[in-house]
Amino acid sequence: RPGDPCAFVVFGGMGDLTKRKLLPSLYNLRANGLLPRDFAIICVARRDLDDAAYREWATRSLREFATRPVEDALWAEYVERIHYVKGDLEDPGTFERLGAALAHAREKHGTAGNAIFYLAVPPDEFGSTVRGLGASGLAREDGGWRRVVIEKPFGRDLESAQALNRELVSILREEQVYRIDHYLGKETVQNILVFRFANGVFEPIWNRRYVDHVQITVAEDIGVEGRGDYYESAGALRDIVQNHIFQLLTLVAMEPPSTLAAEAVRNEKVKVLDAIRTMSPEDVLRDAVRGQYGEGYIGGKKVPGYRQEPKVSPTSQTETFAAGKLLVENWRWAGVPFYVRAGKRLARRDTQITIQFRRPPLLLFQDAGLESIDPNRLDILIQPEEAICLSIKAKRPGAAIQLVPVKLDFSYKDFGSVPPATGYERLLHDVMIGDSTLFHRADMVESSWRIVTPVLDVWATLPARDFPNYAAGTWGPSGAQELLARDGRRWADPE
Ligand code: BG6
Repeated sequence: RPGDPCAFVVFGGMGDLTKRKLLPSLYNLRANGLLPRDFAIICVARRDLDDAAYREWATRSLREFATRPVEDALWAEYVERIHYVKGDLEDPGTFERLGAALAHAREKHGTAGNAIFYLAVPPDEFGSTVRGLGASGLAREDGGWRRVVIEKPFGRDLESAQALNRELVSILREEQVYRIDHYLGKETVQNILVFRFANGVFEPIWNRRYVDHVQITVAEDIGVEGRGDYYESAGALRDIVQNHIFQLLTLVAMEPPSTLAAEAVRNEKVKVLDAIRTMSPEDVLRDAVRGQYGEGYIGGKKVPGYRQEPKVSPTSQTETFAAGKLLVENWRWAGVPFYVRAGKRLARRDTQITIQFRRPPLLLFQDAGLESIDPNRLDILIQPEEAICLSIKAKRPGAAIQLVPVKLDFSYKDFGSVPPATGYERLLHDVMIGDSTLFHRADMVESSWRIVTPVLDVWATLPARDFPNYAAGTWGPSGAQELLARDGRRWADPE
């Protein structure tokens, strides 16, 4: 069903996120009939423009970044609903003008007083924007609902995340806050719950008795792409592990929720995070690995090292690779390690979850090459390939018993062609209908920082003398291989 009538307010209305993701996603929702009929977009930015000039900018941006051909008639009707408010977010006058624009949208476009405030601004402006909403009364729900969408990074350690959460709850109710994680908008990520809980065959073996270990990889072949200044203060652990990887981990490890209601699902997810053992400094030194890329080759092309990227210090200590071994200490998973890794400029783009099962109890086929064949393994491929693949063994045809690995797989391609999307569509629509299942809750964010902060603390006190320690285009530093080799295991690198 289409979203509820509302005004969609974007703070940071001329930023990268707005042009690359938000405008194309809203257009896709419109094309799929999922935007409310009574709808308006209000963009807030510093530049001195009027509605007409902003609409021109938005049209140009959409033509550049749309994921489907832009239909003139559809866009013409849509662009009329876009309005512009100029202003600085520190200035109360901006919020006054925004209030007037919202009243106008209510009258002209029938938005019923409902509003979504999307904070597409740098993290140091989150606080002032929310304070502005509070002081101006725009966050009050006395004539329609008000929801606030916050982008990552949500804090930079446990303390700052708690401070931000405190600031938010002093102005908003938790139900009004939507902390967005674009990984949860991906089809293949949403499919994890369906795969686990709509099929009866996997759940009985989804535990410590049958699973040897779990791996989660988010590998990128791109570098920092001109975002050196942001990345210098983030690093791989904050950029990918604390949010995206932990979300994947909770989906794999959570208990079945009693219903699919937002709170039921999020309660189960946070229980998984709470069960992850906090690492001591010794654990960090042993079980966490960091890396930084030096120059190398990607697709046959020479690329510079991280320290040579624009806006990066030539002596940078920022990690562009992080790996670690996590222990989920609950009844289902005790003793089953979860190995996670994320990195830039790795051999190829690949986001994948691997569930490695235990070997069969009896080696009946010792003479048939079993030693050389891995035990059963389930790969959930998230991107760029979207598939689920179970590796089993079969007998090669012939008189002798010879075992070969074969794959049972399902690929998203089998569904036929789906129009490309940005991945934000589902999430934006969820905000419009008030479904917060796929968004981080305050306690989830704090729990994930509790896990990550001790690692950051140890790394901050010990300089990484071996940086750069992996060449662009490889699978990261040797320490990452050793982390698994020590346990007699290895990463399931894609073939
Ligand atoms: C973002 C990170 O959250 O995710 C980026 O800030 C990263 O550094 C991106 O490149 C990866 O997203 P995706 O959807 O391409 O895997």
